[in-house]
Amino acid sequence: MKAEQRNNWNNLLNTHCPGLETSTEAAVLESHGCDWTRFRTPDPSAVVFPRSIEEVTAVVVLAAEHRIPLVPSGGRTGLSGGAIADAGEVVVSFDRMRRIVDFNAMDRTLTVEPGVVTQTVQEYAQQRNLYYPVSFASEGSSQIGGNIASNAGGIRVLRYGLTRDWVAGLKVIDGRGELLECNGGLVKNASGYDLRHLFIGSEGTLGLIVEASLRLTDTPPPSRVMLLAVSSLEAMTNVFHHFHDALILTAFEILSDAAMNYVRQGHKLAAPMDGASPFYALLEFECPEPATEDLALQCFEHCLEEGMIVDGVISQSETQAADLWRYREGISEAITPYTPYKNDLSVRISGIPAYLQDLDRLVKTQYPGFEVLWYGHFGDGNLHMNILKPESMTVEEFEETCGRVNPEIFALTHSHQGSISAEHGIGLLKKPYLGYTRSEADIERMRGIKAVFDPFNIMNPGKLFD
Ligand code: MLT
Ligand code: ZN
Repeated sequence: MKAEQRNNWNNLLNTHCPGLETSTEAAVLESHGCDWTRFRTPDPSAVVFPRSIEEVTAVVVLAAEHRIPLVPSGGRTGLSGGAIADAGEVVVSFDRMRRIVDFNAMDRTLTVEPGVVTQTVQEYAQQRNLYYPVSFASEGSSQIGGNIASNAGGIRVLRYGLTRDWVAGLKVIDGRGELLECNGGLVKNASGYDLRHLFIGSEGTLGLIVEASLRLTDTPPPSRVMLLAVSSLEAMTNVFHHFHDALILTAFEILSDAAMNYVRQGHKLAAPMDGASPFYALLEFECPEPATEDLALQCFEHCLEEGMIVDGVISQSETQAADLWRYREGISEAITPYTPYKNDLSVRISGIPAYLQDLDRLVKTQYPGFEVLWYGHFGDGNLHMNILKPESMTVEEFEETCGRVNPEIFALTHSHQGSISAEHGIGLLKKPYLGYTRSEADIERMRGIKAVFDPFNIMNPGKLFD
């Protein structure tokens, strides 16, 4: 993009949005022009830091008038390039909108500005003997606005669902610069299209979330965590079935031996048990009374006798539970230096065995010589397949190679009625493959919806679809 264009936009922002904090410092452009993906170079024209709904509105009205592309930016922990600004866009950061607006004990809702960090919401709820159940490894820095825009999932979807299930109301500035108040925290509201749900998971392509009302729930009973060494991926399905039938599972996660090695190396963790196993399951279950733990141990014995598992440990304190979780939650960070190419796949839970068998065969033939790590949220059908970049390859060569294999992986996923993106979103990186999960008719209708909310195509243009 021409320097003249950038200067023009920056002048417009300075003139029409007086008082708005704006930065064109190289370090800020770099840090706020991208998310956790490493496959694009950030290149925004400016980063703005509004402090209020009025300031966001002023930016969008100006952008609509002058066709300035905007990229919303939260905690920037996304993994598909949804928050990348690499074409001179103006980044709208919510770092200065971190206020808790309201807590309503009767309604059990917490209303927050979009820049509030996920963990802050969890802690705020906990201090009031309530619970916000959406949880994932990056919750210490990800922001609620980004969680909603990407319909974040994480580790407890099996029990509590996705972010979508916890949004009671939204305020949004759409691409026309108008404030939409969606659902207002109501539990029941049968008055036509629920626009709230269009914005959840829209990846910033319809508007900017400026306030959210979140539902809170009862504090769950105490839980226990088990880490099981599972003899094979095929056995994993039976192990899951067995424990799921007997206990109230709040999480059932998996990791391969290779993933275990990387997380141990990266975080200097001791071996969780003697010997190695091709796969591990990390499960968490509600344990309100000692009898429940006995039941879990019976399941363990049974799976051991049947040869499905070879070893395991169970937490006896919250600290031990947190330590066991590190083997799963630390993986993403531990492998970041290896520039992983991330596949975030899902199928129905009952379809996992057949899908995995086919996928495993395909991966072995298509990625010979590449290190492939498996982990994910087995209990909700979401598998993360990470291919690590060989040291000898450039990032560009690596992305191109993975891109060549993608059509086969995604065609296979489609043939198993799965999704090419379970929870990370489509963003920039998966955009060329959207058609493997969504039909032409679907995409056409989505374009139509975008045109209604964002007629000037200023809201995160080029993401999700063109
Ligand atoms: C996870 O489950 O750890 C996250 O989705 C991040 C990742 O896939 O690396
Ligand atoms: Zn995940």
